[in-house]
Amino acid sequence: MEMLMSPKYPKDPYIYKRLFNLFGTRFLGSGLVTDSDHDHWYRQRRIMDPAFSNSYLRGLTNTFNERADYLMEKLEEKAESKSPAHMHHMISCVTLDVIAKVAFGMELDLLNNTQSPFINAISLCLKGMVQFVRDPLFELYPWNWKFIKDVKLAVKLLRKTGAECIAERKRAIQNGEEVPKDILTQILKCAEEEKDDDHEQMLDNFVTFFIAGQETTANQIAFTLMELGRTPEIVAKLRKEVDDVIGSKQEIEYEDLGKLTYLSQVLKESLRLYPPAPGTSRWVAEDIVLDGIHIPGGVVVFVDSYVSGRLDTLFKDPLRFDPDRFHPDAAKPYFCYFPFALGPRSCLGQNFSQMEAKIVMAKLLQRFELQLIPGQSFGIQDTGSLRPRSSVVCTVRSRSHALD
Ligand code: HEM
Repeated sequence: MEMLMSPKYPKDPYIYKRLFNLFGTRFLGSGLVTDSDHDHWYRQRRIMDPAFSNSYLRGLTNTFNERADYLMEKLEEKAESKSPAHMHHMISCVTLDVIAKVAFGMELDLLNNTQSPFINAISLCLKGMVQFVRDPLFELYPWNWKFIKDVKLAVKLLRKTGAECIAERKRAIQNGEEVPKDILTQILKCAEEEKDDDHEQMLDNFVTFFIAGQETTANQIAFTLMELGRTPEIVAKLRKEVDDVIGSKQEIEYEDLGKLTYLSQVLKESLRLYPPAPGTSRWVAEDIVLDGIHIPGGVVVFVDSYVSGRLDTLFKDPLRFDPDRFHPDAAKPYFCYFPFALGPRSCLGQNFSQMEAKIVMAKLLQRFELQLIPGQSFGIQDTGSLRPRSSVVCTVRSRSHALD
């Protein structure tokens, strides 16, 4: 773990620099995830941090509630019409609605606006990333060209949307309007502090947050629902906790979240078995010896949370979904559990994402009984991030109690 904790080992330039472009179109550039220049990254991170402070996040609770309520309305319709709900897709709409609104002030309303191209564009970018990084010959084969064209169009759509958003915000600032201290404001500040007001650098961060802020949380919630589909005893415990803490309240408050301890355990266990961002990699410039293992200089080291979460040397009976591993009294899994990575380059959105996941899950448990439609896979699909192989299709029944 020293590799993640110490700034001595930078992000591996092969993968992260390669993602500057995707098939020749500027993609993540030197945004926060891919920036491999430590000093430049550090300056950006320092500016972004306030948009993820606890006091700022507390103020986002309303938006999380509001967007989660859109999902509850849709599910109510599904329950009434007795039609199945494709939960992975519906949750993806919510997490994109949330990040677009709180980071950039955009109103997408994706559950109603079904023609919106954004969810598909993000999926295409991720699929493109996997091919681009893993297969240097991918572009040579003519049968891949249509896919590559679509991926490039998806990247251009995201960057164009970013450009419009940034122009709009700059206009508002010039007109002296009050603007939120959101992620977009911090993105503008980063570029300003670098004194170059670099338009492309702002777009790098726009795309970075648009993608990093959406896909992972959606996949975590979808995996959790998939597991709960075959663990009714865990659902019963969760429901009891949600009924005790939230009752029939419509608005979940920030203070409630700390009381949902069993739900936290379930979400952590879900990330152990199904880490949506399964690993990271570091560059070792010179020969080192770690734990008696000689690592020669000039190699890339992969640190994989999917693998370590499933090792029986680290977790007893590792394939069993057991939230009690994360019981407050249980021994802490030191340095073998890192779904958000560790050290200076760990996830900036960890608390943001877990607040969002808890609010969505608590509302689902409060209001509905979801039943997985039988015959679906419990497998994992690797599309750059890990996502459920199935669409997590469920039947929906309303729980019979009125909300305040
Ligand atoms: C369950 C949800 C999430 C998981 C599992 C997750 C996981 C991770 C991981 C493993 C990394 C390290 C990536 C690497 O080394 O290549 C990372 C970085 C990052 N994540 Fe997340 N993430 C989640 C949600 C979010 C959200 C909601 C946001 C933004 C709102 C976000 C923003 C970022 C950023 C900006 C970085 C780069 C940090 C830096 O290098 O300074 N993430 N995340």
